[in-house]
Amino acid sequence: MAVTRTFSIIKPDATRRNLTGAVTKMLEEAGLRVVASKRIRMTREQAEGFYAVHKERPFFGELVEFMTSGPVVVQVLEGVDAVKRNRDVMGATNPADAAEGTIRKTHAESIEANTVHGSDSEENAKIEIEFFFGEDEIVG
Ligand code: RTP
Ligand code: MG
Repeated sequence: MAVTRTFSIIKPDATRRNLTGAVTKMLEEAGLRVVASKRIRMTREQAEGFYAVHKERPFFGELVEFMTSGPVVVQVLEGVDAVKRNRDVMGATNPADAAEGTIRKTHAESIEANTVHGSDSEENAKIEIEFFFGEDEIVG
């Protein structure tokens, strides 16, 4: 298995509860390395663009509101099979369905305020990383 990259967001519900370190520790303990990280306040335009695939979903408006409601930490993670490794440690979208020991089971408040985002494919990881980071900001 190759070392690859994925894109992660620590969402506003987590930064509000001061969980940036706790979440990052779980990512690191899952074998992922933080090779880029910045705390930002997402603009409405950024949130709408980032979640454009969900534009037609009923929760789109609320999702944009939530993602712009407080600071987020955007990160590039590197590791063996990084996309899957990250999805595994994140757990299911709805914390009620998430496995024990996952980030969402441990920390998420609800299906929406679910603490972390993670790319769902290598292809989307590349697009999402480029959405927020220049290559010079990523230090492996
Ligand atoms: P993410 O993209 O944030 O990593 O989450 P995911 O793949 O597990 O879930 P996805 O289906 O891509 O949904 C994106 C985010 O939208 C919010 N959501 N709200 N109210 C709802 O029914 C609902 N469903 C999804 C969550 O914040 C979810 O992570
Ligand atoms: Mg998704």
